[in-house]
Amino acid sequence: MSWFEWRDAPVAEFAVLGDPVSHSLSPKMHSAAYADLDLDLNYVAIRVELSEFDQALDHLVALGYRGVNVTVPLKEVAFEWCEILEDGAWRFGAVNTIRLEDRAGMNTDVPGFLSVLRAHSVEPGSRVLVLGAGGSARAVIRGLLDEGYLVRGWNRTRAKLNAVVEGLDVEILDDADVRGCGAVVNATSASLKGLDLPVEWSHAADGCLAFDLAYGEEMSPFLRGAMGRGLPVTDGLPMLVEQGALAFEWWLGRPAPRTAMLRSVGL
Ligand code: ATR
Repeated sequence: MSWFEWRDAPVAEFAVLGDPVSHSLSPKMHSAAYADLDLDLNYVAIRVELSEFDQALDHLVALGYRGVNVTVPLKEVAFEWCEILEDGAWRFGAVNTIRLEDRAGMNTDVPGFLSVLRAHSVEPGSRVLVLGAGGSARAVIRGLLDEGYLVRGWNRTRAKLNAVVEGLDVEILDDADVRGCGAVVNATSASLKGLDLPVEWSHAADGCLAFDLAYGEEMSPFLRGAMGRGLPVTDGLPMLVEQGALAFEWWLGRPAPRTAMLRSVGL
């Protein structure tokens, strides 16, 4: 998949910004949506370094871009850049979708995540264990609480999780104890490094969903552990498609062609 440095960005309408960004599936997914609906729009991947975010956005606005998705490590600066925050994005401290015209920001990762959870029949009221204390864990925990799930948290470095959930109704665990959970969410970056987490899947209830926010060619050790116990699993790909579909709908004000978008990433 081709990508551009922001100074060499082509004229287009939409883009995903990140660093690195070469691995992003968003151009494929959005291009498939445009093709499916016969829309004359272009979506490209652009590398933007954290320290150059503001400059890069000025440049893209001047080129006529309408909207951008942002990925690691830009979601927090994107949040700061926005003058309008839609749909509770202020609660998550991170924005992944921007409408450039009015500097409006939105977080479609969280609703995308919740939608996949519900698709697996993990309903509000059930207990969800979230592993990790980075930006993703922070957003997911707040989204779950807003929706009425009972949230437990575990992080390798407990102090970091303490800070992230301060003032929130989250039970902090010493061990990643999966007992009594309807779902266990891996919001750490362990899977990106091919590493496993200290989860004892034999303690999980039947039907407990293992949800890894990461995705890749190979199934993560976290998901393999759960599969080995006969538990349902999902990686982050369905959530990626849903956040993309929600961004599409927000920018263009029409239903996203989800089937074409899912197919474009091999689902
Ligand atoms: P992001 O913003 O993408 O969520 P991050 O801020 O880099 O990512 O946070 C990464 C998270 O993964 C942290 O919670 C980290 O745990 P620590 O707070 O102890 O550093 C967690 N993490 C990364 N590698 C891990 C591993 N091998 N085992 C357990 N947790 C890991």
